[in-house]
Amino acid sequence: MADSSALCYNNLQGKVAIVTGGASGIGEATVRLFAEHGTRMVVIADIQDQLGHQVATSIGIHKCNYIHCDVADEDQVKALVESTVQKYGQLDVMFSNAAIVSPSDQTVLELDFSQFERLFAVNVRGMALCVKHAARAMVEGRVRGSIVCTGSVAASHGARKRTDYCMSKHAVVGLVRSASVQLGVHGIRVNCVSPNGIATPLTIQVHRKSAEEVEKVYETYARLKGHVLNVKDVADAVLFLACNEFVSGHDLLVDGSFVRG
Ligand SMILES: NC(=O)c1ccc[n+]([C@@H]2O[C@H](COP(=O)([O-])OP(=O)(O)OC[C@H]3O[C@@H](n4cnc5c(N)ncnc54)[C@H](O)[C@@H]3O)[C@@H](O)[C@H]2O)c1
Repeated sequence: MADSSALCYNNLQGKVAIVTGGASGIGEATVRLFAEHGTRMVVIADIQDQLGHQVATSIGIHKCNYIHCDVADEDQVKALVESTVQKYGQLDVMFSNAAIVSPSDQTVLELDFSQFERLFAVNVRGMALCVKHAARAMVEGRVRGSIVCTGSVAASHGARKRTDYCMSKHAVVGLVRSASVQLGVHGIRVNCVSPNGIATPLTIQVHRKSAEEVEKVYETYARLKGHVLNVKDVADAVLFLACNEFVSGHDLLVDGSFVRG
């Protein structure tokens, strides 16, 4: 029987990928996994310059590059994609993953719309900009590429807090479904990966707890026991979506059977 990791290895050989939010957490784990699986170049697009450069250098500057890009800004996203195509010849994979959480709880009764708007600029407009400009480059370059966006279990459930974040992740699924319908004719696949809670800088900041304490909270969110979800589990799912040739319009839950804790 064919080894699926070998198939993925072959599929990513020589490919060029962009990972937004690639300086940290799920994005960083995916950058490393793509590089291990033979990508010619992985471009990290993030706003944490020092961390981004550190990750790129640790992988090797001939295989990984860092570009400062605020995904909420169309000019920066356009420049990111154009410079990638100009330098490396093509764009095969876009992992649109960057997102933020508002500083306050954002219950419906206490919604702060300045925070709401910044969150939507990054989590919704930023995702749409990355899909738009990646897809344009793929269509122009006649590349049968793969676009993966990061959703969340919050994309298919209501939440006690963080209404704006929950809304933004529902929007990501709508974007992915529409893009997969429109881009299939060009041979471009568009999918979503939706993780359960994981201890990353994003959630450690939200919970104001240690990584171990955050993991304990999220353990109660999965019916599946005996394994604590980590960033590599999500990166494995992204690798599958980047490599597979016929999955499109899918929201791949990496949630261990989500249950509200
Ligand atoms: N950690 C979880 O529990 C969890 C669960 C479900 C979904 N997610 C999603 O996973 C994705 C990655 O989050 P993470 O948990 O790895 O968090 P993280 O904070 O470790 O990584 C997010 C990265 O995005 C970058 N970023 C933020 N704003 C940006 C902007 N405007 N432009 C470019 N980059 C920007 C940050 O600098 C950071 O490097 C997000 O979409 C998040 O919503 C996380």
